Amino acid sequence: MVLHMHVMLCCFVLIVSSASASLKVDFYKTTCPSAEAIVRRAVNKAVSLNPGIAAGLIRMHFHDCFVRGCDGSVLLESTAGNPSEREHPANNPSLRGFEVIDEAKAQIEAECPHTVSCSDILAFAARDSTNRVGGINYVVPAGRRDGRVSIRDEASQLPRPTFNTQQLISNFEQKGLSADEMVTLSGAHSIGVSHCSSFSDRLYSFNATFPQDPSMDPKFATSLKTKCLPRSDNTVVLDASTPNRLDNNYYALLKNQRGLLTSDQTLLTSPSTRPMVLTNAKHGSKWARKFAKAMVHMGSIQVLTGSQGEIRTRCSVVN
Ligand code: HEM
Ligand SMILES: *[C@@H]1O[C@H](CO)[C@@H](O)[C@H](O)[C@H]1NC(C)=O
Repeated sequence: MVLHMHVMLCCFVLIVSSASASLKVDFYKTTCPSAEAIVRRAVNKAVSLNPGIAAGLIRMHFHDCFVRGCDGSVLLESTAGNPSEREHPANNPSLRGFEVIDEAKAQIEAECPHTVSCSDILAFAARDSTNRVGGINYVVPAGRRDGRVSIRDEASQLPRPTFNTQQLISNFEQKGLSADEMVTLSGAHSIGVSHCSSFSDRLYSFNATFPQDPSMDPKFATSLKTKCLPRSDNTVVLDASTPNRLDNNYYALLKNQRGLLTSDQTLLTSPSTRPMVLTNAKHGSKWARKFAKAMVHMGSIQVLTGSQGEIRTRCSVVN
């Protein structure tokens, strides 16, 4: 009887944990063998014209996965009476690369209609971007299905650039990601840009005692102020030394107090994550392997599989 219970418990646990384990590498091997190559070609073409698109696609996958899981909800356009995730200030106007997903989807539909999900296309595109600008390669388990719901206000679950380390850790924990994965994935801020409004409080209105954030190198702050005049909302690069190269230089910037966002610099300031920053700064290839692994883990958050959801025909609208 006791043995029986143990067997039951073991199998129950296996079934429960198989939700994301049911994603499979080479998922489209027989149903759409050219799917991944089509995505890769579309990404490479777009990134050669504008390297910033790689940053856009990596961030888009993150923003998809953190809101309703990796279900392509970030791609949906608003409908009458329902503003979608795309309208949330975390996504609008800064999220970019939608046209690359649309182009890959159109080509894939022409070859294998109604087979490849938008959420998988986005996961492949983030991987191809990572490979293209970071030389980091990994295989993407696939088989995600697309959701039918996207609600603007749910994007408030995304972490904010003003968060401190404790807030970042608990935000990622709610999605099943560890503090180390959070620090590792923050390395994505070694590419791309930020609007001044995401960090201008650090330059002009930090707190009652310090107008300027004392954890920011004053020379860096002075140079940022020339690019971010009060009430302007330009963009500046997140990693000023190698803005289009995805590498562990981001962690070296933090050591020099040149992290752009509060959520970046806090990773060094806080004793709980400081050792992770220092390790990542020192061991680039180890960080790259952890980054690949964490991207795969992030890509499995709350996925729809099997007969859940649908395979969208166009990524911006439900069927
Ligand atoms: C740890 C919490 C995070 C916060 C608070 C955060 C916040 C931000 C903010 C505010 C921007 C600038 C948006 C703008 O003003 O234009 C940004 C850009 C970016 N983020 Fe994050 N982010 C976080 C984690 C991540 C993760 C996990 C990834 C991907 C793995 C990522 C990838 C990017 C990329 C690539 C950009 C540049 C986008 C572009 O140039 O279009 N971020 N992030
Ligand atoms: C302002 O920030 C500094 C540095 O983080 C901190 O030590 C100080 O207590 C803060 N002052 C106020 C009034 O919040």
